Amino acid sequence: MSYQYINVSNHDGVGEIKLHRPDAMNALCAALMEEVGTALQGFAADDTINAVMITGSEKAFAAGADIKDMAQLSCVDAVQDDFPFSASGWTVLKEYRKPVIAAVSGYCLGGGCELAMSCDFIIATDTARFGQPEVKLAIMPGAGGTQRMARAVGKARAMELCLTGRFMDAEEALEAGLIAYITTVDRLHGDTLATASTIAAHSSISTQLIKESINQAFEMPLSSGLLFERRMFQTCFASEDRTEGMNAFIDKRPPAFRNR
Ligand code: CAA
Repeated sequence: MSYQYINVSNHDGVGEIKLHRPDAMNALCAALMEEVGTALQGFAADDTINAVMITGSEKAFAAGADIKDMAQLSCVDAVQDDFPFSASGWTVLKEYRKPVIAAVSGYCLGGGCELAMSCDFIIATDTARFGQPEVKLAIMPGAGGTQRMARAVGKARAMELCLTGRFMDAEEALEAGLIAYITTVDRLHGDTLATASTIAAHSSISTQLIKESINQAFEMPLSSGLLFERRMFQTCFASEDRTEGMNAFIDKRPPAFRNR
């Protein structure tokens, strides 16, 4: 499969999507997000892939939806196509079952920040800049920014960020709870790959159920979420991997998980 706007690679259990539109700060045109959807579906169908990472360039993870394309878009077209969800990357990622990490360096703005927040967690360099600057274009976040930012950093800071359009640096993003940890530009790929490889080495039965359960924390009241978690926990006992995991611990040897 050849792509125009992304590079796709496979690192021993970890699938990588690298956004590659250098002349436009990785702005998320429809074709780019369609390619992201295709690549994600490919990794979903590949039994050897247990975790995915999405990254950009040193300068930009992504500077948002493509403003030059949006300038031509009518309200009727946006509604009829369900823009930006007309491109499969957004819909596939929303329902994605394998863990996905966003590895962010440089600008992570607008739709770019929404893409990173649609992943399961974000690892960022000390050069990363996060923001929802849509307000400066007289529009607003449209791919989850108001919802996911409010859940990630709380109402006050989400309001302030989205209403002013200012950028937040990596230290602030870490302190606010938007990102998991900070690394350097030189180490971003290696650190993210190491984290993704650790996840990929676990049984996909448990990693996928953990992901689903944590996501339910944002959908359900606590009592329902706790019940959902308990049922998922009990489901783990049906897998061959949990027998292997516990026996390996008792036998003092590494487990050999088969995702069964
Ligand atoms: N769409 C289209 N092109 C973009 C772009 C975007 N979102 N962001 C940057 N580019 C292009 C620029 O137009 C420029 O192209 P040319 O060389 O052809 O002029 C090129 O990328 C380099 O950008 P700059 O010259 O602007 O670089 P800079 O270093 O001076 O500034 C920046 C970098 C701060 C990221 C600045 O480009 C910027 O503010 N970009 C727009 C950010 C933004 O408003 N994002 C939100 C978009 S709306 C959205 O995302 C809606 C949604 O929720 C779905």
